[in-house]
Amino acid sequence: MFDIKKIRSEFPMLVNHPELVYFDNGATTFKPQPVIDAVMDFYTNGTSNVHRGDYPLSARADALYDGARVSLAKLLNCDVKEVAFTYGSTSGLNQIAYGMEKVFLKPGDVILTTQTEHASNLLPWYRMERDAGIKIEYLPVDQQGVIRMEDARKAMHEGVKAITVAHVNNVLGSVQPVKELAKLAHEYGAYMIVDGAQSVPHMKTDVKDLDVDFLAFSGHKMCGPGGTGGLYGKYELLQKMDPYALGGGMNSRFNSCGEVLLKEAPEKYEAGTPNIEGIIGLGAAAEYLMSIGLDEIHERERQVRRYFSEKVRELDNIEFYNPDNETGPITFNAKGVFSQDAAGYLASRGICVRSGNHCAKILHEILGTDSTIRASLYFYNTEEEVDRCVEAMKEISIENAIGIFF
Ligand SMILES: Cc1ncc(COP(=O)(O)O)c(C=O)c1O
Repeated sequence: MFDIKKIRSEFPMLVNHPELVYFDNGATTFKPQPVIDAVMDFYTNGTSNVHRGDYPLSARADALYDGARVSLAKLLNCDVKEVAFTYGSTSGLNQIAYGMEKVFLKPGDVILTTQTEHASNLLPWYRMERDAGIKIEYLPVDQQGVIRMEDARKAMHEGVKAITVAHVNNVLGSVQPVKELAKLAHEYGAYMIVDGAQSVPHMKTDVKDLDVDFLAFSGHKMCGPGGTGGLYGKYELLQKMDPYALGGGMNSRFNSCGEVLLKEAPEKYEAGTPNIEGIIGLGAAAEYLMSIGLDEIHERERQVRRYFSEKVRELDNIEFYNPDNETGPITFNAKGVFSQDAAGYLASRGICVRSGNHCAKILHEILGTDSTIRASLYFYNTEEEVDRCVEAMKEISIENAIGIFF
């Protein structure tokens, strides 16, 4: 049973700030008490480094840090050796691109992606296009940002070595057919890479069932601490791939002849002292989400989103860009009002939303505008909050949006 009252009582930001409606969950989410407690416990009772000390305090930190990996492996349905901790989706996606280039790609190879991707899933490939002769090709998407499999089949060819897409788009909420794309990629001997930044927090992600080769996600978008995230990779691929960062904690030995023996995956991807308290908090976040149920979270969000979508369709002053998608943010503009001015007006009414291009800077070629307002929900949001937001949206006009600055 999804108990929204209980859930909301577990988030101090919701309890302490009833004046706010927080609809910027695509950027980062609030943290529940068990996550805060886990981080506080590390600071107040458990501070030490990990995998380096020979005393009980350090062993305790090891157990909590390694325990977080077990929780994340359970969340993604993979082996514990297939999850490396990162600092977020950006570092995971950069690691994948770097590793692919060094080990799996040669000049002329093609990466297939979409124009709807976040900068973190495009810029590493752009650099490779510039420096390593890799070519980027774009899969067509429909007006709601969704890839049709018949188009993907037409776009696929022997030169493609990887398909990389966000499972859920961060602007339109388009859900891509990742399982079918992975099957297609594998038919051509190519790899399937998934940006899970906006999917892992919101829906069950079974990497074995999806049969993807790599997936990156952010901890802070799933109730975990900032500066945390993870990288899933099939074990044999993680073993073959090169880490982009080298340093302490990830090597077994090296000598003055320059010979270096790295540890096995996943440790070889965690050079230097990690964000220990953050990762322990991320483990607590994964356990928290699993205790509610990822299917329940997904269904609850869809319910509230549907309610929101129906209300927004009725507003004459609003242009609504993704009415047909059932997942992800509500993306809109107030007609004739610059998105940042409109977001400023909403802020004056206690509504927290994001405006701009949301790091998806070539999506405007599909949307027809390079600046929108994004109201992104999480499972703790309610219909009452939607009503407050919709009431404020009704009032947006050029006069009052600009008026708040004078
Ligand atoms: C789809 C998508 N990919 C990647 C990222 C980057 O995530 P992070 O900033 O946590 O590294 C984001 C963040 O908004 C995102 O929405």
